[in-house]
Amino acid sequence: MIKRIPIIETTEKTGQLVKLNGWVHSRRDHGKIIFIDLRDKSGLIQIVFLPENKEIYQLANALRPEWVISLEGKVQNRPKGMENPKIPTGKIEVAVEKLEILNQAKTPPFEISEEKEINEEVRLKYRYLDLRRERMKNNLILRHKVVKFIRDFMNDKGFLEIETPILTKATPEGARDYIVPSRIYPGKFYALPQSPQQYKQLLMVAGLEKYFQIARCFRDEDTRGDRQPEFTQLDIEMSFITQDDILNLIEELYIEIAEKVAHKKVLQKPFPKFTYKEAMEKFSDDKFDLRKEKDPDVLAFAWVVDFPLFEKTETKELTSSHHPFTAPKDGDLHLLKSNNPKDLLKIRSWQHDLVCNGYEVGGGSIRITNPKIQSRIFEILGHSKEEIHRKFGHLLTAFEYGVPPHGGIATGIDRLLSILADEPNIREIMAFPKTGDGRDLMMSAPNEVSPAQLKELRIKAAK
Ligand code: AMO
Repeated sequence: MIKRIPIIETTEKTGQLVKLNGWVHSRRDHGKIIFIDLRDKSGLIQIVFLPENKEIYQLANALRPEWVISLEGKVQNRPKGMENPKIPTGKIEVAVEKLEILNQAKTPPFEISEEKEINEEVRLKYRYLDLRRERMKNNLILRHKVVKFIRDFMNDKGFLEIETPILTKATPEGARDYIVPSRIYPGKFYALPQSPQQYKQLLMVAGLEKYFQIARCFRDEDTRGDRQPEFTQLDIEMSFITQDDILNLIEELYIEIAEKVAHKKVLQKPFPKFTYKEAMEKFSDDKFDLRKEKDPDVLAFAWVVDFPLFEKTETKELTSSHHPFTAPKDGDLHLLKSNNPKDLLKIRSWQHDLVCNGYEVGGGSIRITNPKIQSRIFEILGHSKEEIHRKFGHLLTAFEYGVPPHGGIATGIDRLLSILADEPNIREIMAFPKTGDGRDLMMSAPNEVSPAQLKELRIKAAK
């Protein structure tokens, strides 16, 4: 028995017998000869069935797109003029000597072998077929390469990758929480993390100094092209550092990802830095695109700093521009004492945002480590003393046990990838995304649960 090889390796096997497994990508009949393109993860190759070999020919005659087959055959050069320069195996073909049909397939609801516009609901319902397409496969490969590169880079810089809980307590990042009922404590709920923000700060109190995580975050907010309810961040926190240390680290990493992994050009190095005020004056937006021509092979990164610490909500209350753990700038600290919103809105913060080609691809800050300042911020945000204790007591208590100065950032991995892959929507670079209205069409989620399950959780759905 010979061992199966990936299709791509046939390019070095001319004249040899090989075993290949895969899917029938397409089929063409020329006179009596049957040609199929066989597809596996590594690529495509032309397979030839000649009528002389009757038994196999008859079997081959039944083959339809997406059937799963196993075959053995000899790798040979294609006749002159029949080469296909578009694929790496375009000079060769395999003449079959053995064929086995492993599994048949229904006619797929859309063509796998052609890059055509397909209705998105159908694509998402049959995502496992959609992911067979070249474009989607390449996006997942790019995602893997970028994440692998990040892990190696962060490891080389002395960071520890640490997992933080998914079943946890609310941490404010400006969205609604997804909540999970507790069976053991009826009427109580876990929240899924909007980010690992508080845990990573507590890891700094724990003395781990350099943390990162490829972290899944959950935010119940209206979905957009660059927003999913469930998404992935490169989450970072560091102790005993300045804001520039954080910016320099990300800058080095992102330049390497752009140039070495995605083979793109970075418009400006080092990344230009704008204050929030400058950005608003120049671009009337804190997410701007510095490219003159919208060339997808050029990445225009920029930093935005000196954000206001607070902003006004629609109902005119004060809220954090970023989150309540971001430190005010030292020079503006005196304004914190004021109860006048006008003064409070003047306070600038240590927030930093990374933008690229018109998208916000990262955000972070130097954190508050003084429990008094932290309590005052919560108070300004309208939390009562009791509420502060209930919601954030753990953090304030931790800060009483020797907290190092620290700061960090989280960058959106999905957003970065959609820019690198030149995809208009972050759904295209996620294996199993949700629709614009938050559904998983393949799994049919969200879904009703059984009355027994609700009873056990002591939950009644309101009519
Ligand atoms: P922030 O809320 O700014 O910061 O999020 C950081 C980055 O995450 C990405 N992002 C999203 N990507 C896809 N879908 C979403 N719904 C979504 N929401 C955010 C963006 C954004 O820039 N804990 C802080 C970070 C810190 O302070 O260190 C945080 O989460 O690219």
